[in-house]
Amino acid sequence: MKVAIVGVSGAVGQEFLRVLAERNFPMDELLLFGSARSAGRVYEYCGKQIAVKELKHNDDFKGVDIAFTSAGAGTSKEFAETITKYGAIMIDNSSAFRMDHDIPLVVPEVNAEDAKNRPRGIIANPNCTTIQMVVALKPIEKLSHIKRIHVATYQAASGAGAAAMDELKEQYNQIARGEEPTVEKFAYQLAYNLIPQVDVFTENGYTKEEMKMFNETRKIMHSDVEVSALCVRVPALRAHSEAIWVETERPVSVEEAHSAFEKAEGVVVVDKPEHKEYPMPLFVATKDPVYVGRIRKDISNPNGLTFWCVGDQIKKGAALNAVQIAEYLIKEKAL
Ligand SMILES: NC(=O)c1ccc[n+]([C@@H]2O[C@H](COP(=O)([O-])OP(=O)(O)OC[C@H]3O[C@@H](n4cnc5c(N)ncnc54)[C@H](OP(=O)(O)O)[C@@H]3O)[C@@H](O)[C@H]2O)c1
Repeated sequence: MKVAIVGVSGAVGQEFLRVLAERNFPMDELLLFGSARSAGRVYEYCGKQIAVKELKHNDDFKGVDIAFTSAGAGTSKEFAETITKYGAIMIDNSSAFRMDHDIPLVVPEVNAEDAKNRPRGIIANPNCTTIQMVVALKPIEKLSHIKRIHVATYQAASGAGAAAMDELKEQYNQIARGEEPTVEKFAYQLAYNLIPQVDVFTENGYTKEEMKMFNETRKIMHSDVEVSALCVRVPALRAHSEAIWVETERPVSVEEAHSAFEKAEGVVVVDKPEHKEYPMPLFVATKDPVYVGRIRKDISNPNGLTFWCVGDQIKKGAALNAVQIAEYLIKEKAL
């Protein structure tokens, strides 16, 4: 088994190194790629020093079985042919191919089987906010079809990459020193602030991130569900949070939902409001599961249920989900 990581210096790339080691992913060789900026840099993987190669249009992917790519949509589009031409499966974290009809968009807890049908040798890893939401929705969908979702997200700085996380930390330091904070990665200062915009606006007034939640949820769940999202960047470092309202075909009780969440793959329930216990990004960062809490009936809708959901978007929302797809393919002998 020969594995490659493309974009290893980034927030998601670094998480791939940790997740692959943590899960003892079966492999004989690991290749690391980046742009000219990080080429030559050395990273350690399970005691081995591995130098980053510059990603080029050559034969470097000959013999590679799985390539985990997280270097942005432009890079994925430009290099997909180079990466897959000798048979490597490309599991791509960018938005480049997610909505293409011949590219499966996979969250193993929800639609693992879709990963087997990949005519172009590419499997897309969904948008991070969508991944954690569909993991939590799956057990409810099993109880009763979800017709409509309203969701407000509270997205951590690291969702915009390693440099954005550094900028948030630096802003707090600069403000403490009485200096003007550097604002480069987001449109506004994020420290002591919230920004109700993630990604660019589309014609209907929703941002691209919000439309990803609409379109990707439908594709992953094979569903006609309507999703109305409002995505907000918050000064958390890592792990996205979501307030979710679902409307099901028949009323679902809190007890039913609680028990379905408890049994669901990849979900952990933290819901003891009387003890002030609910999921929070500070405590969910670096954890594998998606956490849910504050499970209640929606008092404005007899068929409505509402809950709070927190997941580490670099881990389950990116690297871990991709590695779980690869593990599924290995288990199913479907590489
Ligand atoms: N951060 C998240 O929470 C998250 C979650 C899900 C999906 N994603 C997606 O994952 C991808 C990476 O995100 P990130 O947050 O890890 O960003 P990041 O921290 O900014 O890292 C970007 C990575 O891409 C590499 N890269 C850029 N241009 C390249 C090129 N031409 N050739 C080879 N490598 C190139 C960079 O390498 P150099 O350092 O060498 O330039 C770096 O390793 C994006 O598509 C993003 O949308 C991110």
